[in-house]
This record gives sequence, structure tokens and C-alpha cells, in this order.
Amino acid sequence: MARAVRVQVPPWAPLTETRSPSLAQKLMPNITFVDFEGTARTVDARNGDSVMEAATSNDLPGIDADCGGACACATCHVYIDPAWMDAVGKADDLEAEMLEVAEDVKETSRLSCQIKVTDELEGLVVNTPESQY
Ligand code: FES
Repeated sequence: MARAVRVQVPPWAPLTETRSPSLAQKLMPNITFVDFEGTARTVDARNGDSVMEAATSNDLPGIDADCGGACACATCHVYIDPAWMDAVGKADDLEAEMLEVAEDVKETSRLSCQIKVTDELEGLVVNTPESQY
């Protein structure tokens, strides 16, 4: 006969949905992707993932990410909402070089594979271009 065993989670255990669902959910910042037609889609992004991974893991249209995040294709090009430019920051030299091959680059352009999701990006809004080619 099986006996029920009660497991006590120590207070120093990692935050998981088992320990604290509401707190764990707060550790997944929301990111909104707005496509070129104006359709907005909001996803829960995992801290540590890239903004590109937040899009592709949720099957969002508009981001191809052909190189898988190696900063070698520019098919993850997005426009950062101007209100978020300071929080997101500027492209480094490698990313800026790769952005030169993207279409219709603007001051707010970034490669989404180079933006790491953090709690500080809760509510981030990015726009995807009409085409990545
Ligand atoms: S996925 Fe290729 S440059 Fe971002």
C-alpha cells in the first residue's frame, strides 16, 4: 500500500510554479509584438531568453531568425517602441554591422536576438517590419 509523503519546500528553493505560481508568473515579463498591419500579440517571455526567442517559441509571425540567434542573418529585425529605447539600449558594434543588411532600418531598429529578456523589460513593445528580406 502506497503512503502519501509530504514534501516541504525550503524557503531558499528556486521560485517555481510549484512553490509560488503567482510569483513565478511575475518572473515572465510580458512582451508585445505589433506587426506591420498593427495587430498586437502579447506573450510571456522567460527571463534570460532573447526577445527573438520569446517570439519564435510562441510561433509569432514577422520574425524569421534564420541563424538561430547568432547575430549572423538580421532576419530578427524589430523596431523598439521609442518609449523603450533607453531600457533596451543600443546595438553593439557587431549587431550594428549586421543591421546594415536589414531592410528599412530606422533609429529604433534592433536585432531581437541580441536583446535579453529581464524583469526591467516587463511591458516592452516592439514592432516587426513588413518583411525580413
Ligand atoms: S536571429 Fe539571426 S541575427 Fe538575430
